[in-house]
Amino acid sequence: MTPAIVTERLRKVYHGSGRASQESASASVPGAQAGDTVALDGLDLTVNEGEFFGIIGPNGAGKTTTIGVLTTRVLPTSGTARVAGADVVKNSVTVRQRIGVVPQRPNPDRSLDAWENLIYHAAYFGVPRREAARRATELLERLEISGKARMKVDQLSGGQQQRLMIARALIHEPIILFLDEPTVGLDPNARNSLWEILRELHGQGRTIVMTTHYMPEADELSDRIALIDRGQLLALDTPEKLKLQTPDGSLETFFIAKAGRGLDA
Ligand SMILES: Nc1ncnc2c1ncn2[C@@H]1O[C@H](COP(=O)(O)OP(=O)(O)OP(=O)(O)O)[C@@H](O)[C@H]1O
Ligand SMILES: [Mg+2]
Repeated sequence: MTPAIVTERLRKVYHGSGRASQESASASVPGAQAGDTVALDGLDLTVNEGEFFGIIGPNGAGKTTTIGVLTTRVLPTSGTARVAGADVVKNSVTVRQRIGVVPQRPNPDRSLDAWENLIYHAAYFGVPRREAARRATELLERLEISGKARMKVDQLSGGQQQRLMIARALIHEPIILFLDEPTVGLDPNARNSLWEILRELHGQGRTIVMTTHYMPEADELSDRIALIDRGQLLALDTPEKLKLQTPDGSLETFFIAKAGRGLDA
């Protein structure tokens, strides 16, 4: 079976960020200069088709950068990444057609209302207007923001904007869905709705890549979890196997033991 995602020796160096201490240690890596941030440091990942792949790691570990490269938003410094059969640099348009993205920070078009955000996005991906309207209605209902359809995005609360981002990521029915901390700011109802939607998509065989700091979420949803820190893969396995490595069988303990600052980091 062809993997949904393959990265090889993926590196991303942000130049001249001027950050101190921790990152300047990474700047001793060849090709990096003082003040550079090595966000991805030779990341090799394979995500299988239909897999629910969780990514966890401390703040600044490189999770969003990984998602950025895989979704063609961030240009890698070196290495390669193939997503849904296409190279993220050479065939970024093809990759974009095949993926849906829920970014860490909501980025709707603020000049449009919620409904238009969905319809324009669907049109961009070639979904016929009538079908787009049907899907938009269904998604807004599902995410319980139907009442906000004709409101400008700035009139939506933070959590409602996040729900809109989820609807937008799904409207063109992508093969692979990327979600970067999708449940931050969502109330328990919305979180449950999202989990239900994600389980359903997973059940339909979609590939899902999700970052989260909420360990029960990673545990509950993921087939496999990658723990990354300083742009490197520290661990990759099923939640069950990762939890077996700790005395209390909790993913949180595993995280802290492997990537907790001030312990063995
Ligand atoms: N645009 C940028 N310019 C310079 N440095 C950046 C940029 N984006 C990220 N970085 C740096 O790259 C590193 C990885 O950042 P990234 O956003 O990928 O981390 P993360 O794992 O998503 O963290 P969090 O859990 O806080 O969201 C950090 O040290 C960050 O300061
Ligand atoms: Mg992030």
